[in-house]
This record gives sequence, structure tokens and C-alpha cells, in this order.
Amino acid sequence: MKERDSFGNHFGVLVALAGSAVGLGNLWRFPYLVGTNGGASFIIIYLFFVFVICLPLMFTEFVIGRRSQNNVFGAFRTLTQGKKPFWGKIGAISVLCAFVILSFYCVVGGWTINYLVKSVLMQFTEGVNFQQMFEHSSTSTTVPLIYTLIYVFLTALIVIMGVKNGIEKYSKIMMPLLFLMVIAIAVHSLTLPGASEGVKFLFYPDFSKVTGDTVLAAMGQAFFSLSIGCGTIITYASYVKKEENIISSSAATAIMDLIFAMLAGVAIMPAVFAFGLSPSEGPGLLFVIIPQIFSQIPFGSVLAILFFIVLFFAALTSSISLLEVVVAFLSEEFKMKRSWATFTASLSVTIVAVLCSLSLGLLNDWTICKLPLFDFLDKLSADFLLPIGGLLFVIFAGWKMSDEEYFDELSNGNTLKQKRWLLYAIRFIVKYIAPIVILIILISCLLK
Ligand code: TRP
Repeated sequence: MKERDSFGNHFGVLVALAGSAVGLGNLWRFPYLVGTNGGASFIIIYLFFVFVICLPLMFTEFVIGRRSQNNVFGAFRTLTQGKKPFWGKIGAISVLCAFVILSFYCVVGGWTINYLVKSVLMQFTEGVNFQQMFEHSSTSTTVPLIYTLIYVFLTALIVIMGVKNGIEKYSKIMMPLLFLMVIAIAVHSLTLPGASEGVKFLFYPDFSKVTGDTVLAAMGQAFFSLSIGCGTIITYASYVKKEENIISSSAATAIMDLIFAMLAGVAIMPAVFAFGLSPSEGPGLLFVIIPQIFSQIPFGSVLAILFFIVLFFAALTSSISLLEVVVAFLSEEFKMKRSWATFTASLSVTIVAVLCSLSLGLLNDWTICKLPLFDFLDKLSADFLLPIGGLLFVIFAGWKMSDEEYFDELSNGNTLKQKRWLLYAIRFIVKYIAPIVILIILISCLLK
């Protein structure tokens, strides 16, 4: 049998993980959720989920992936050695979930290419109605479809070439660039007249606005942003060498992800208030505000091009990780060639992505649970499928894997000097806290 691929070095692992985590979730989804869920109070609840629930879950996915050295479906089969039929198959949910997320992610990825083209054509000028521009770019029929197709194609192209050689290399260039861009925009945004309203909105909590939906949305966003709950980390971890320190690599990824989300918030919210727009704009927030800022600043047209290039790359490094879940599954479970697996997966994604895109315009009347397909899949995956996936992972790792097995993987066979209390605290969260918290929130939202 061919030897399995693996990441080149420690830095490569970090960049790939950060590439997966940092994406549209931070720059597009986070600001609009903060906007529609009341600002700072949402962020505080979000922080709780990131550090108390999702980080231990990330360790857990890492443990499962690296121990099994297998795709997400095969991972559970390997770890149960075929003895627990139910648990051996839970990876199927992850593959489905990655597929669903990818379908609407590619539509937004298409918007980023569209806006990149617009910026090259210098269409962000003063006096343009950016609201209308976004509506045209997202709800008309052919334009978004074409860009979605291009986006799926590019994602597939990189995955076909082999993730490691492609991603590892260029993530090392793109991630720092993205970081600098977002900082620059955030600083500019803070100097706009009226920016303080936005800062207040981000940093002064108003807990009277918190509802069950806020908590659910914060949990969903924490899962989404950290790429937790559908086996992305399991799949990537299966390519990681045994020397990697799971705890520190995961923590670094989570912190990087959080910094990006906060920077995106600081870049966008002050400008929202400065331009007299509403933070509860919804999914269009990024695509309306950012061009507006660029239309008004010196060198804006050049900066706009840079910004949309890096936004596009940030999205791409994330969608690759999602596609990799499905491709690794198809190629290892069905013994497909990598190229065939990629083709099959992307063709199926394209079909659902086309429906998602059309659901914002032509098929707007065709709703599921009162939502167009796009919004339905966005909510379904983040708020339900990911937490359910995460719940199954922690129950599996907490109760079907022994303490010894879990600690052994977390401490690289006891070769790392780790604090005992830290290991026990993680184990306690994985066994008790995480499953209970996730269950309570899911059940209370379903009963509503
Ligand atoms: N985390 C990525 C983002 O913030 C998206 C993503 C990649 C993802 N892999 C995932 C989301 C797995 C959920 C699960 O844009």
C-alpha cells in the first residue's frame, strides 16, 4: 500500500490548521453575527465556547485523527476495531456535514472572486450604492453562479494537486499578508469620525439582549470558526507526525483564529456606525462595508485589490480543508484515485452550491423552515450539525476511549512534560462538561 501523505514540518502543520480555521467564518460570518446578536454580549458568550468547549474538542479531534491515521470515517472504524457498529460509523455524519458547509461556503467564495474582479476594474468609487451592488452580486442568476463555479473549480484544483505541497507553501505567504491587511483596515476604521459607537458596540455588553438564540448562534460560530465538529481537524491530524504537541498546536490555532475574528470586528463595526449603516445588515455586511471604506480612502483602489485577494485566499485555505474531508473519505474508503475522488466530490458540491446560490434570487420562494436554502444550510450546519458532530466526538473520546489511551496520545506516549492537572482538566471537560453543555443548548433550542 502507498504510504500516507504527511505534513512537512511543525510550521506547516500550524499554517495548515490556521489556514483551515481562519476564513470566511472570521471575516464574513463573525462580524455579521456580532451585528445581528447585540455586539459585546455575543462576543463574551462566544469566548466561553471557544476556550471551554471548542478547544478541548480540538484536542479531541486531534487525538482521534492522529491516533487512527485515517480519514474521518475510517478513523472511528479503526479505533473501535469493528467492535462497536454504531460508533464505527459516526464519521459518516462528518462527511455529510463537510459537504453541506462546502456547498454554501463556495457560494460566498464566489462572491469574493466577484469582488476581487470588481476591485481590479476599479468599481468601488464614491457615490456607488454598495447595497445595490451586493444585491446584484448575490441575488441575480448568472453572475453569482459563474463565480461559484470558478471557486469550486479552484478549490478542487488545489486539492487534486495534493494539499500539503500546495497549501503548506502558499499559506505561509498568505496568512501573514492577510494579518497585516486586516490590521491596517482596523486602524483606519478606528480613525473614522463616529467610530466610537462601533467600539462601544463591540466592547460594552448589554446582557438584556441575550436570548437562547444568541447562545446557540455563539456556540455555532465557535464551532464553525475553529473548524470543529465535522472532522476537518481529524483529517488534517491524520497527516501529522507523532512528535507534534497537540495541546500547544491547537491552542495556537485557536488564539490565531480569535485574533482574526476580533480584528475583523474592529475593522468593520466602527465603519458601520461611521457610515450610518445598521450592524444588523446580515450576510451582506462585509461586502457592503469594506468597498465603502475603500471608496473613501487614499490608495483605496489598490488596497481593495489586496484585501479581496487575501480574503479569497483565506476562504480557499478553509474550503480546501473541507473538501479534503470528503476526498480523503472517498479515496480511502472506496479506493478511488485522488483525482476521481476530487472530481466526484466537487461535482456533487457544485450541484448543491448552484441551488444555494439560486435560493437567494430566482428560487427565493422555495424555503425550508422559512429560510432560503442558503440560509437554511448555513444555520443547519453551524448551529446543529457541527455541535451534534462535536457531541458524538466527545462522547466517543470520553467514554469509548480509555483515559490511558487519550492521555497517551495527548502526551505523545508520555514523552512530553505536561502538567497532570491540565490533562485531567481536559479529560473532565471532554467527559462531562462539553457533552452536557452542548446537549442542554441543543435540546432547549429544539424544544422552543
Ligand atoms: N473555519 C473556517 C472559517 O472560519 C471554515 C471551515 C473550514 C469549517 N473547515 C471547517 C467550518 C470545518 C466548520 C467545520 O471560515
